[in-house]
Amino acid sequence: MKYKFHQRDVISILDFERDELEYLFETTDKILDSYIDKKMHLLDGKIIALAFFEPSTRTRLSFEVAAKKLGADVISFTSEESLSISKGENLADTIRMLDNYSDLIVIRHRLEGVAKYAAEIAEKPVINAGDGKQHHPTQAMIDLYTVRKLFGAIDGLTYGILGDLRYGRAATSFIYGLSIFKPKKLYLISPEALRVREEVLELLKNRNIMYEEKYNTEDVIDQLDVLYVTRIQRERFPDPMEYERVKGSYRVTRELVKRGRRELKVLHPLPKVNEIDYSVDASEYAAYYIQAKYGVPIRMSLLILILGGDKL
Ligand code: NCD
Repeated sequence: MKYKFHQRDVISILDFERDELEYLFETTDKILDSYIDKKMHLLDGKIIALAFFEPSTRTRLSFEVAAKKLGADVISFTSEESLSISKGENLADTIRMLDNYSDLIVIRHRLEGVAKYAAEIAEKPVINAGDGKQHHPTQAMIDLYTVRKLFGAIDGLTYGILGDLRYGRAATSFIYGLSIFKPKKLYLISPEALRVREEVLELLKNRNIMYEEKYNTEDVIDQLDVLYVTRIQRERFPDPMEYERVKGSYRVTRELVKRGRRELKVLHPLPKVNEIDYSVDASEYAAYYIQAKYGVPIRMSLLILILGGDKL
């Protein structure tokens, strides 16, 4: 096999080379073109463990759908309360058990670094479905794929990334993902308290990605091809007062997007709370529902490439 996906852990989008992501996207194209409505049997007999220590709707369900469409079975849990962890079992033992029972572990956790830790313990491949405020690699794959589908390319476009750039792992992973390509420019738009973290800016500098930090989307809306909006990550604020100060500090309205280019597309990893006005949902600018839909074929591709080899 040309690219190294077989039995691989997926911890950060930064672990991937551009040509590997392109190969993943081409596989996803094939699935969408020919297989998405069929039951495939590439992973018959495999068991996928979905270990969600933190809430999720789309990520968990789309992994489950992806696994089932490929013929695999799924075992899952969605909170610590239902586990022996609530009896004092440590995380490492829980991972060891999942490693014994399954062929691949998908893990989500509120703490940074848990996916990497799980991958060190488990012999089976581990996919990070979001840990802490930094890494959510499969979301970044979906987001990049969505841009590629909408515009035909990821390179050469101007991106506005709006919202909680400090605590948001989807936003951070999207920025990391873009740094693997050649975007024209990134505008990092947020209130002061939610500014992008220093290590992310360092990476952009090292990779020669042009960026500018902004406070208001209004100032740059007419330059954007993509506006990537994120929710304020209330649950990750160390101080609830800090959250109170920034909540409601930005909102994308129909009036705002109408001042943008005709081709402008608004992306959002979802869930959205109130940062996008309902009037945008039904407009031609909104791309977040199709983006969520691509969660299934992207995750199918990843599971095939990791567990099934190059059989598609
Ligand atoms: C994101 C997450 O969990 O980081 N959700 C998702 O997977 N689409 C974004 C969020 O919770 O805001």
